[in-house]
Amino acid sequence: MSHDLFLAARQAMAKAHAPYSKFPVGAALLTEDGRVFSGCNIEVASYPEGWCAETTALGHYIMGGGGKIAEIAVVAERMDRITPCGGCRQRLAEFAGADTKLFLCDQTGVVETVTMGQMLPYGFEGSTLK
Ligand code: THU
Repeated sequence: MSHDLFLAARQAMAKAHAPYSKFPVGAALLTEDGRVFSGCNIEVASYPEGWCAETTALGHYIMGGGGKIAEIAVVAERMDRITPCGGCRQRLAEFAGADTKLFLCDQTGVVETVTMGQMLPYGFEGSTLK
């Protein structure tokens, strides 16, 4: 399954709109009930207005019905083992659990598997706001 998710992330990466950084990224999310959502990074000429692949994938996931995220894969064309940026770790954590698997990939497949808990220790949690 992790390889399928990697393939979805790599396919998404091929759609990246990254003319400024030339750093295409792809992400794919698997829900507990087996749905897959993917996304690429999208850059705009006003640089701060662009966003990450993980964020695009999360938009598709929400519009596709949401649910608990069980697994996540991330791949970048020019990096052998990309890790999500800090902002995306927080966004992913909103819909994942500490035990959610995160597959860090190179061009051929998964190179390392970590958990969201490892990626975002001591993260800010929504329960604090209740
Ligand atoms: N980027 C992502 O899509 N995900 C990350 O986790 C890190 C960075 C994108 C944003 C920007 O389009 C490009 O990579 C270079 O920073």
